[in-house]
Amino acid sequence: MFVKNAWYNAGWDYMFTQSQKNGLSQEKGALVARKIAGERVVLYRKPTGQLVVLEDRCPHRQAALSLGQKEGDGIRCLYHGMRFGADGKCNEIPGQETIPERACVRVFPVVEKDNWVWVWMGDPAKADEKLIPHAVGPSDPDWNVKTSQMHVKANYRLEIANLADLTHLAWIHRDTLGAPDLTTRDRYTHIKPKFTMLSHAMRTEYYVRSVPINSFLSHLFPPGMLFDLEFDIMHTLPCTWVLHFRAFVADGKDEGAPTGQLVADTWTSQAVTPCDEDEVDYYYSWGASKVCEFAGLSQLLCDNLDDAFTEDRHVLEAQHVRMKEKPNFPMVDIIHDAGPGKMLWLLDKHLKGEAKEAATVTA
Ligand code: FES
Ligand SMILES: [Fe+2]
Repeated sequence: MFVKNAWYNAGWDYMFTQSQKNGLSQEKGALVARKIAGERVVLYRKPTGQLVVLEDRCPHRQAALSLGQKEGDGIRCLYHGMRFGADGKCNEIPGQETIPERACVRVFPVVEKDNWVWVWMGDPAKADEKLIPHAVGPSDPDWNVKTSQMHVKANYRLEIANLADLTHLAWIHRDTLGAPDLTTRDRYTHIKPKFTMLSHAMRTEYYVRSVPINSFLSHLFPPGMLFDLEFDIMHTLPCTWVLHFRAFVADGKDEGAPTGQLVADTWTSQAVTPCDEDEVDYYYSWGASKVCEFAGLSQLLCDNLDDAFTEDRHVLEAQHVRMKEKPNFPMVDIIHDAGPGKMLWLLDKHLKGEAKEAATVTA
């Protein structure tokens, strides 16, 4: 089940190229197929550069329009050559004069922001750009941000739960984002997150005090040096997760905001897009402020996310298989389920709201 009236991420802006060639050959990225929240869509750029998103399904015999040809502002189906404009309306049927009124393709609202491409999967009249989460993209002049992506064969609710509880850094990610020694891992699991619930999002703030720097950065600092780590996360429906992560030289205190020297100031922006109930596309970035960056840090951050999300992928894909095998298995709750519970509650609230609205319309 998916919330319809929401912005879903379709990837980074550079994945969609503007160029087109004559004939059947096209440059990679000219027509991009995506499956978002159960719907197949095709994305392309008009000659002006403006993005268009249409249902990837020809109204004639359901051929994939993404296999066709971009023509000016529109697209031509590869199978029998029907041509559609960016407004979704058919404007040519080879060998036929009249065009049936129903010969049109669904059009989805699309917005580019912070180098991300957002598609509205619900009622176009309700598409509100203010609901697009804040992120820090690679073109932000103050930050040096690198991007990447991954495909995961798991239900997106598992990703939501994974991102809403970072105590798993101590376990899944002990060799990457976390730390290998037991004392540090203990500190990662004894955090006291502050949750703030908003209409479409949950903010989570906490510190991990007096710990070695994350495993993947440990070669950059003297052994034994301790840090205070600050996490400030905005987790927005359906599953966009943006973290402002800062590391300070440890000030020796256990309470309050860190007061030591700031050694790393970073943003990571992550969007998990459900393709369907069994798979997600994950688009993410990580980068450091140009004020405290040194050569190679941002690439190191982003490369580390590739490693860390591969660790998550192994766990979540195996979990997904088991959840499907025994959907009614009596699971036990623990203290770290607070964040996942709140975020999934928010998702369910929106799902129920939309279901109720749909029932009222049909009644
Ligand atoms: S299926 Fe597209 S034109 Fe026939
Ligand atoms: Fe993780």
